[in-house]
Amino acid sequence: MKNLLLLFLLFTFFYQSNAQHSIIPIPVNYVANNSEFIFDDQVSLNLQTNDEQVKKYTEQFQLFLKKNGINTSVSTTKKGNKTIDVILNKKLQTELGNEGYILEVNQNNIKLTANEPAGIFNGFQTLKQLIPIEKISSENKTSNQIKIKGCKITDYPRFGWRGLMLDVSRHFFSVEDVKAYIDQMSQYKYNVFHWHLTDDEGWRIEIKSLPKLTEVGAWRVERYGRFGEDRKAPKPGEKTPYGGFYTQEQIKEIVKYAADRNVTIVPEIDFPGHSMAALAAYPELSTKKEPKSVSPGFKFADWYGDGTFKMLVENTLNPADENVYAFVDKVFTEVAALFPGDYIHMGGDECYHGYWDEDPKVQQFMKKNKIENSHELQSYFVKRVEKIISSKGKKMIGWDEILEGGLADGAAVMSWRGMKGGIEAAKMGHDVVMTPTTYAYLDYTQGDHSVENPIYANLSLEKSYSFEPVPEGVDAKYVLGGQGNLWTEVIPNLQYAYYMTYPRAFAIAETLWSPKENKNLDSFINRTEDHFNRFDAQNTNISKAILDPEVKVYRKDNKLMCELKNSVPNSEIFYTIDNTYPVKFGQKYTGAFEIPAGKLNLRTQTFKNGKPISRELLISRTELDKRAGN
Ligand code: ACM
Repeated sequence: MKNLLLLFLLFTFFYQSNAQHSIIPIPVNYVANNSEFIFDDQVSLNLQTNDEQVKKYTEQFQLFLKKNGINTSVSTTKKGNKTIDVILNKKLQTELGNEGYILEVNQNNIKLTANEPAGIFNGFQTLKQLIPIEKISSENKTSNQIKIKGCKITDYPRFGWRGLMLDVSRHFFSVEDVKAYIDQMSQYKYNVFHWHLTDDEGWRIEIKSLPKLTEVGAWRVERYGRFGEDRKAPKPGEKTPYGGFYTQEQIKEIVKYAADRNVTIVPEIDFPGHSMAALAAYPELSTKKEPKSVSPGFKFADWYGDGTFKMLVENTLNPADENVYAFVDKVFTEVAALFPGDYIHMGGDECYHGYWDEDPKVQQFMKKNKIENSHELQSYFVKRVEKIISSKGKKMIGWDEILEGGLADGAAVMSWRGMKGGIEAAKMGHDVVMTPTTYAYLDYTQGDHSVENPIYANLSLEKSYSFEPVPEGVDAKYVLGGQGNLWTEVIPNLQYAYYMTYPRAFAIAETLWSPKENKNLDSFINRTEDHFNRFDAQNTNISKAILDPEVKVYRKDNKLMCELKNSVPNSEIFYTIDNTYPVKFGQKYTGAFEIPAGKLNLRTQTFKNGKPISRELLISRTELDKRAGN
C-alpha cells in the first residue's frame, strides 16, 4: 500500500513537472528532474566539436544570452565548472535523425547532443524556450540571473518538410522583413521557407538576362482600398511608385541567413497563370500580346463562388509559343543557381484557359500535337517546365492543379484545395506537401468578423490545430510534410504578417514536428498563452483571437438565440444584451440565451481570475440577425 502511494505521488510529481514547460512544438519526450540551472556570468559554452555550423549556432545562442544580460564565453576547452556542453555525436543515435537532439539540464551543467548541426540548432531553440519569459523582456536587462528547471528532453521531428509560405508579390517585404520572418519561424523549428516571388501584382526577383522583369514588373501604381474590390485599374502613363525586388546579391544574403537558421528556401515562380507582372514586362509572351500593367489589386477576374472564374485581363503565358519556353529556361537557369535547395516551385495554380481557347494559333498547336483540351495543354506546359527544372539539377513542385491533364514524372504536388490532390498524387507514388486551405491558410481571419480585417474565409486556431497531414489510406512515406501559407493581399507590413501567422503557425509547427499522440488542445492553448507573453516582451504582434468569445447565433421557435464559447482553460465569458457596459458587470455565460428584439448590441468578453483577457466584442442585433439568416 505504501509503495502504491509512493508510486502515485511520483507519478503526480512527474505529471505536474511535465506540465510546467511551455515548449512549442511539444517535444517527443520531456522528463523533469529536481535540479535547477542558474544562468549567470559564470556560465561558459563548451564546444566539443570543430564543426563551423555548430559554432555559428552556439554563437547565436551566446548572442541571445547577451541580449538578456548574461555574458558567456564560447570555447573548445572547458572553462570553469558551469558549462553548456555542445556535442556532435561521433556514433549516431538513429532515433534523432538529422534534426533531433537531446537536451539535459542539471545542476551546473547543460548538455546538448545531436547527430548533425541542424539538431544542435533545434536544441538551442528549445533551450531558449525554457528560459522564463520575464527575463527576455527588454525592460528587464538589469537582472543577470536566469533559472531554469532541470529536465531531459529527447526530441526529433515527425516530418522533414515543415514550411511557411510568404507572398511578397501582393505586398513587398524588405530584405530585413524577410530575414525577421525567417528568424521567427526557425524558433518554432520550421525548416522550409516557401518564397512566393512572383504574381500578378509584382515580380520580385532579379533575372539578369531578363532585366525588364524587375525594371517594369516589380513596380505598380499606388492604390488604397480593398484589394480586388474597389481599387481602380492603372491609367495609361501613370507613375508606378509601389513595389520593389530582391537583387541576386540580396537573395544570396537571405539564402545564407536562412541556412544559418536551419531553413531551406523553396523559391516559387508562378507560371503559367498569375503572370501579369511578367507580361507587363514582356507582353509578347501572351496570346494577345497586348500591353498591360502590373496589377495594383484591381478587380480583373469574375469569381463564381465554386472556385471557377473568368479572367478579364490576360495573365497567362502562351503555352503554344516556343519563345515562352526559352523565357522559362532563362528564368529557371538563374533561379537554380541562386537557391541551393532541392526544390523549385513552378506555381501552376488558378490558370485561366479562356484566352488559349479563343486563340487560333493555340488551337492549331493543339491539333498538331494531338492535345485534346486546355487541361492537357496546361499539362503539356507543366511537363516541359519540369524538364527545364530537372535539367538544372532541381526537383519540381507545383500547386495541385498540375495534376490536371496528367502529372509530370518526378513532380511533387503541393495540395491546397483540400487534401484530395495530395491523396491522388501520393497514390500515384509522387511526393506531396499538404497545405489545405481548411487548416493551413494563414490569410483567413482567425476571430470574429466584428474585430478582424475581413477576407473571404475564417480559420480558427483550434481548427488549425486539428490538421492531420497523413490522410487514411495514404502511404505516409509520400507525405513530405506540410505548410502554412500567408497570402498578403490584405497584409501590407511585417507586424500584421506576424499577427496573421501566429499563433496558427504554432499549431501547424506542432502538427509537423511533434508525435501525433503528444498533441493536446488544452496543453497547447496553455503553452500558447505563455508564448503570447514572449511575443509581447519582444514587441512582436500576435493574434490573441483565441481568447475572444466565439459567438454562434441561430433561430429557434422564432427567437434569436446566442451561444458563446472559447477554448481557453479556466476562463469565464461575460456578456450584456441591454446596451450596458463594462461587460464585467453583465451576465456570466452559462448556456444559450435569447437576444430580444430591438436596437440592441451584444457585448461579450473573456475573463480569467476576474481580469479581462480578450477584446470586447460589440455586435449589433442587426448584424446578429444577418448571421442567423432569415
Ligand atoms: C493558391 O492558393 N492559389 C495556391
